[in-house]
Amino acid sequence: MKKIKIGKLEINSFVYIPPMAGVTDLAFRKVVRMFDKDTLIATEMVSSKSLMYKSDPSIMKLSLDEHPVGIQIFGHEPDVMANAALIAEGKGADFIDINMGCPVPKITKGKDGAALMREPDLACEIVKAIIGAVSIPVTVKMRLGWDECQKNSPELAMRLEQLGVCAFTIHGRTREQGYSGNADWEAISKVRKCVSVPVFGNGDVRTPHDALRLIEVTGCSGVAIARATMGSPWLSMQINKFLSYGEIVPSPNDFEKLDIAKVHLHELVKIKGEVIGIREARRHLINYTKGMPNSASFRAEIGQISTMQEAEELLLRLKEYLMEHSNKSNNHEENKEFVSISTE
Ligand SMILES: Cc1cc2nc3c(=O)[nH]c(=O)nc-3n(C[C@H](O)[C@H](O)[C@H](O)COP(=O)(O)O)c2cc1C
Repeated sequence: MKKIKIGKLEINSFVYIPPMAGVTDLAFRKVVRMFDKDTLIATEMVSSKSLMYKSDPSIMKLSLDEHPVGIQIFGHEPDVMANAALIAEGKGADFIDINMGCPVPKITKGKDGAALMREPDLACEIVKAIIGAVSIPVTVKMRLGWDECQKNSPELAMRLEQLGVCAFTIHGRTREQGYSGNADWEAISKVRKCVSVPVFGNGDVRTPHDALRLIEVTGCSGVAIARATMGSPWLSMQINKFLSYGEIVPSPNDFEKLDIAKVHLHELVKIKGEVIGIREARRHLINYTKGMPNSASFRAEIGQISTMQEAEELLLRLKEYLMEHSNKSNNHEENKEFVSISTE
């Protein structure tokens, strides 16, 4: 596999799991690392102000064994962003990712996130301040532009590269599009052609074959996959194996998925405590069990769990249900070697 160089950081992965608020927390990242030690991954976005002014050391706590990992920050004040980046570097981040893509009005109304694409001079000032403050690589994640009339990602990326940005993630939609329609991979390719640093193409990659197609269409160095990893933390490993060796690694069977879900549940509760951990585990458990027999009725029950005991009992019942209804299409014997997981 050809290493991707992001400044001084060399990675053995074609995949970047980009920030997802409420998803790419420490528990999720630990589960991803059970399958793929090399994939590039980032924390959820964190406000530069909260990183700078809140002294809580648990904010954006990284684990020693999860590298390469980046911290994504958002904000619009160059000095605050630079200070936040310095704090993130002190927490052990391997790179700083700057959020210039978040479309949520709560964020953009304060010139943060995707609003920075409409303020290219300010975006440049922020990047300059951050690069001047830290010695780790700085990356930028952006959309195609603010809206159909302002698709300025190629010009902005060129300016930011000149200031020292080491890699870009380009989500092939505008801020106005939100998540509607299909990601425009051709438009990503226009940005890729304008810069010489690595670009991770982003948007609508769900399978290893999608990843290959995106790379073929865009010429990007790698792919950023977000939503498709929810409930499938093994996906980056499958994509890396496919892009590196043409190898197709089967997904875990339903029984294995439930074991992985249990590990995720335990990590969440260990890190966040039972009340928050269980509340946040619900969405993950729903994602892990998607497509399983009778999953719709189990999903309703997952929405009601509030203790670890209830969560574990539900997973056990789901497993028993699967055993009763397992048939030839459920290849759990065949995939037994997929991964050996301890749920303790
Ligand atoms: C639940 C959720 C939270 C997200 N949070 C962030 C975030 O904190 N920062 C960011 O740059 N992008 C965020 N995104 C956008 C994703 O990183 C990604 O760009 C987008 O989902 C498109 O990629 P996909 O089609 O692979 O999902 C989020 C997306 C989702 C679904």
